Amino acid sequence: MLEVKIRPLQIEDAYTSFKWRNDAEVWKFTGSKPNKKISLNDELAWISKVIKDLSARRFAIIVDSVYVGNVQITDLTDTKGQIQIFIGNKEYWGKGIASLAIGLVADYAQNELNLLQVYVEVNPLNQASMKACLKNGFVKQSGTNFLIKKLHG
Ligand SMILES: CC(C)(COP(=O)(O)OP(=O)(O)OC[C@H]1O[C@@H](n2cnc3c(N)ncnc32)[C@H](O)[C@@H]1OP(=O)(O)O)[C@@H](O)C(=O)NCCC(=O)NCCS
Repeated sequence: MLEVKIRPLQIEDAYTSFKWRNDAEVWKFTGSKPNKKISLNDELAWISKVIKDLSARRFAIIVDSVYVGNVQITDLTDTKGQIQIFIGNKEYWGKGIASLAIGLVADYAQNELNLLQVYVEVNPLNQASMKACLKNGFVKQSGTNFLIKKLHG
């Protein structure tokens, strides 16, 4: 069985993640996507900037010691935050990793940030993402692409 962990994103992760930025299939269903070729220097600069941003918490997803993707809580307020996820290494798609990583980051939001809710925006065509969220207790908000998970009962 695969061991899935999250740890804070670090600048060195750019050496792996800049390649994922240039794989259009990874960004097919995501709200924000790169609009130009991303160089290693672009990614190094981007990570060094965003890890200082107090309105977000960014994590690397580690599977059996391999860095495979990112998961983050952004748009943080005192009560809520938005979860975003991608598995950049496509060899790791369909193995239950997003389902586990979303659970880990929702636990972090509840236990470390004391948030009352987390939410995700999911393209309805993105069945894997939709299922991974529903399995973790997110509830679809009718008429929108948002799913919400209430924390702390
Ligand atoms: C979407 C994404 C995060 C899913 O990650 P993953 O680790 O492959 O997902 P999981 O393996 O946990 O699968 C979750 C569920 O979707 C199902 N699933 C996986 N791939 C699927 C596919 N292509 N079509 C339909 N269902 C799929 C799985 O079987 C699982 O359901 P089950 O538990 O009922 O069996 C990953 O494909 C990805 O990073 N895509 C690019 C970025 C992206 O779209 N991010 C999400 C933005 S909201």
